[in-house]
Amino acid sequence: MGKKIQTPRGTKDTLPEESYQWLYLENEIRKIFDRFNFLEIRTPVFEETELFARGVGETTDIVQKEMYTFEDRGGKSMTLRPEMTASVVRAYIQHSLWNKGSVQKFSYISPMFRQERPQQGRLRQFHQFGVEVLGSPNPIADVEVIALAMEIFSHLGLTGLTLKINSVGCPKCRPKYKEALRDALRGVKDQLCSDCQVRYDTNPLRILDCKNPTCRELTRDVPGIEEYLCEECRTHFDQVKAGLDALSISYEVDKRLVRGLDYYTRTAFEIVSTELGSQDAVCGGGRYDRLVAELGGPDLPGVGFAAGMERLLAIMKKKGLFLGNPPHPDVYFVSLGENAGISVLRLAQTLRRQGVTCELNLSGKSLKAQMREANRLNATFAVIIGEDELANERAQVKNLQNGQQESVPFDQLFLFIQEALNES
Ligand code: HAM
Repeated sequence: MGKKIQTPRGTKDTLPEESYQWLYLENEIRKIFDRFNFLEIRTPVFEETELFARGVGETTDIVQKEMYTFEDRGGKSMTLRPEMTASVVRAYIQHSLWNKGSVQKFSYISPMFRQERPQQGRLRQFHQFGVEVLGSPNPIADVEVIALAMEIFSHLGLTGLTLKINSVGCPKCRPKYKEALRDALRGVKDQLCSDCQVRYDTNPLRILDCKNPTCRELTRDVPGIEEYLCEECRTHFDQVKAGLDALSISYEVDKRLVRGLDYYTRTAFEIVSTELGSQDAVCGGGRYDRLVAELGGPDLPGVGFAAGMERLLAIMKKKGLFLGNPPHPDVYFVSLGENAGISVLRLAQTLRRQGVTCELNLSGKSLKAQMREANRLNATFAVIIGEDELANERAQVKNLQNGQQESVPFDQLFLFIQEALNES
């Protein structure tokens, strides 16, 4: 006997007892995408490594430590996508989609891959739903994207989430803020964690995001970016806030919010939940006005978000929110005797073609065992067919909810079931 093989660390099987909840969530999320007219984009699960190295940023944790990178048989470096924004922008450039309209809107629900240390709420294969708007510099686009995320959560019945927003400035004003941060931290640089000592030189904004308690303490009183924003960034931020106010979407301005990906300009936001423990972000996003140009396209802006499906599901389970009804067959065919099987196949085919969900006995067990199976599957009806029923072309139909049983001619079976289902 060989050794049993398990799922790779940080990955999960979704078994049927849970997958209906995924289907429910995906369905509801797509409904809201539709209402905002975001159409779905699908891109390959792997891309050339350079896309993420340049797109997400060479100095980010994702690129430095977390990517699943491999050489293909032709010796090219490929990477399983750690996020979607770079891929969507790649597709936008590759297909010159700006020619199809000045603003392009995309949505997705897709698996992502990051080789992080697995813990609660942190997987190596996880799923994101998200959107990207390309081509609009308008702060209304930022508001629209945030409003869409919030709408999905409220549509699902999720309350008590906190929206945090910040502006991370632009290439014009951010360098001044980086210098101010370095100045403020110069005296304590060697007390920062080793990662932050590197960040001090490469991207000091990321120090604000460090979870290390010493780093948090040392950065408690550093200046916020707000006072360093240029006129255009400040106006943009004010307009985003005004848009959120107009929609009665409450938010906290969090001057420490900088996000872990390098492409952001101006608006950065996160939606957090107290139900999630240390990995508390269910959604993150923002504006990325330089990314299209950096990936070789025209100088066009973008804004979007992505949210974690597993984290969303975890909060909803914790709060006992509705996650769809577990599927169950309308009819379980109980067959007795050698000849019943073929008739049942035919009857099931007829019912299924008319939209009735049918399960039939595949294990050849006793009447009692089959009835038990019908109940276990929570079937609405057991349709029993034995020698007598075959001879009379009538089935015994038992309503498993109220126990009533009737004899129904084969050719009226569909009408009978349909009527009874409509009544219940
Ligand atoms: P992100 O903050 O890296 O942003 O990821 C967004 C969300 O994905 C997180 O808030 C979290 O819910 C989920 N997530 C991330 N990593 C994991 C993990 N290892 N396990 C489980 N869930 C995880 C982005 O990916 C950007 N592309 C968002 C964006 C879109 N910005 C602009 N457009």
